[in-house]
Amino acid sequence: MASLDPKLNETVAELVGRLKDKPGALLPILHAVQDAVGCVPPEAVPVIADGLNLSRAEVHGVISFYHYFRERPPGRHVIHLCRAEACQSMGQRGLEAHAKQALGVDFHGTTPNGAFTFEPVYCLGNCACSPAMMVDGELYGRVTPARFDDIVSQWEKR
Ligand code: FES
Repeated sequence: MASLDPKLNETVAELVGRLKDKPGALLPILHAVQDAVGCVPPEAVPVIADGLNLSRAEVHGVISFYHYFRERPPGRHVIHLCRAEACQSMGQRGLEAHAKQALGVDFHGTTPNGAFTFEPVYCLGNCACSPAMMVDGELYGRVTPARFDDIVSQWEKR
């Protein structure tokens, strides 16, 4: 396995050292690593496993169980499309199919130009304006396929 870049290694080791004595430390550590470096790279697994006295398989198992964690850095922007009930009742499924086709990726994928990572989310608290989506924390409601294309083309330029 490739070794971790020294700076990343230092960051991960520092986070492990700071959080390892918390109860249930693995999840807070994985969140902290992803917040700090944009993902949990496979090379970080041994550092985390050693720090917590866990096997690499145990750490890897948790990373792959939670889709929230990424092993590679995301695209420049992250699109979250709501899949929960209120949005589904307002045409979310058609919008989802359109979005996958327009972006050319499935959920958890990153577009080949590196502009977008596409993620599902289960309620954005914007049910009154379903169907809803979010780009880098900016919320959009009543999203139609045409509006989706507009939003994406605006963000593509950023
Ligand atoms: S169900 Fe989609 S925002 Fe609540």
